[in-house]
Amino acid sequence: MTDGTTMRGQGIRVVMAAVWLATLSQQVLADAAAAADGSLGRAVFKDAHDPPSWQALDAAARARYDFGHAVFNTHWLPAGTRDAARIDGVGPLYNAGACDSCHTEGARGRGPLADGGVGGSLVVQLETPGASSAAPDLNSGYGHVLNTAAIDGLAPEATVTVRYQVRSGRYADGTAWQLRAPQYTVSDLRYGALDASTVLKPRLAPPLFGAGLLEAVPDDAILATAPPAGAAWQDHRGRRTLGRFGWQGGSVSVRDQTSKAFAREMGMGSSDIPADDCTTAQRDCRAQPNGGEPEVADERLAALLEFQRWLAVPSLGDADAVAPRGRRLFADLGCAGCHRPILPVAYTDPAGHEVRGTIAPYTDLLLHDLGPGLADVDLAGRSVPTRWRTAPLWAVAYTARAVSPPTLLHDGRARTVEEAILWHDGEAQAARRGFEALPADARRELLDWLAHL
Ligand code: HEC
Ligand code: HEC
Repeated sequence: MTDGTTMRGQGIRVVMAAVWLATLSQQVLADAAAAADGSLGRAVFKDAHDPPSWQALDAAARARYDFGHAVFNTHWLPAGTRDAARIDGVGPLYNAGACDSCHTEGARGRGPLADGGVGGSLVVQLETPGASSAAPDLNSGYGHVLNTAAIDGLAPEATVTVRYQVRSGRYADGTAWQLRAPQYTVSDLRYGALDASTVLKPRLAPPLFGAGLLEAVPDDAILATAPPAGAAWQDHRGRRTLGRFGWQGGSVSVRDQTSKAFAREMGMGSSDIPADDCTTAQRDCRAQPNGGEPEVADERLAALLEFQRWLAVPSLGDADAVAPRGRRLFADLGCAGCHRPILPVAYTDPAGHEVRGTIAPYTDLLLHDLGPGLADVDLAGRSVPTRWRTAPLWAVAYTARAVSPPTLLHDGRARTVEEAILWHDGEAQAARRGFEALPADARRELLDWLAHL
């Protein structure tokens, strides 16, 4: 592929020569054929604690990648900790002290396995309809996220608990299934009551594998299949930009999401978002010392971004060989309409070459309404229409296994891929009904295929 890029570069310089153009188009076709299978971005994960890059890196880029991985694993300390060597500033109010605490070596977080406390990698975001996101007392003074941890001397903002209710049903062939539907309760609110219109938005830390490649999908390719209002437009720094990260496409880039994670989930300032999520109502939080300006040094942030940019997607073998009917079933049921098998990417490699190729992320990076069963609920118990970014399905089995027993979907309610499918409703109702109507052997084959994506 590097050859093709070089030749394209030369071809522009010698653009008059017809011979050159003929060679060029052949080369471009060869490139497209080589990459059209979407294998870009994959690598074998020999050691989960040493996740590989999908891009060959020279020594300098490799050193930055490894440093970025170390930053990802860093457990940040409270501001003022002695000998903290510039890794202090976590909190005062926060959820977890390391990226890795929630995104297990790049895989997903772990949701609750049973009724009880909610914390760790299941984060409860808040949203009060009509409130400006710039308001200093955002969400009754609690900020963007309910912080369920605090440094010594302060108490967490609240306690969140979940209770699951069992829902049962049957496939067309009579086989029974069971799902668990979550209900959240917020108590011990340290800074007064939340408005009843506040929407609780429980969000599990999603997998990060291939994030750099999702970022490299050109906007046009996403918008090409977008129904009206299907795209996750965000107002970012005064510009209308396509959102593609987070369960609802709320962040426009890995950098945007990383800065938000530092500020909201870890209580740390960085150059894009210097202030953490303490609001004016939280005087005890604001009175605490900070860990430097910015708390996250720029070179650490840069390395962390580089790590996420090149972080590979685990390759799990050849799904089509394992389950020959799987791909066809996936298409016939309509899954592929949202979980798009192939997307193009365009990016600059570490040597500065412009590279084009295709990836197989199984997402359209667009938003869909999957019905009231999955929608968020406000504190008064009203379900609010919610649109979700199609979750990428590449390596879904690996990311689920990495935190065994697995928890899937935006709030970790699904305990298996099968349960995740059974929760699909709304725009995905026909696909789910089709799945329920399949005979057992076809269901099994589709699940086997998904297990090797
Ligand atoms: C307390 C848990 C927690 C911590 C700590 C955390 N995250 Fe996240 N992360 C989340 C949640 C929850 C989401 C989903 C947010 C949403 O849907 O709005 C997320 C989403 C992301 C995404 C978007 C991935 C995608 O495909 O949508 C990236 C990238 C990310 N986090 C990077 C980081 C980095 C880097 C750090 C460390 C600086 C970090 N996160 C720390 C919980 C966490
Ligand atoms: C209308 C679009 C749409 C269709 C059709 C669709 N999905 Fe999804 N799928 C989504 C969205 C959106 C999510 C994320 C929902 C959430 O987390 O609440 C998702 C999530 C999933 C997940 C969980 C992924 C994770 O990381 O937690 C699996 C597995 C899945 N879909 C499989 C399928 C299969 C198999 C089919 C076909 C039977 C299908 N989907 C059809 C949109 C769709």
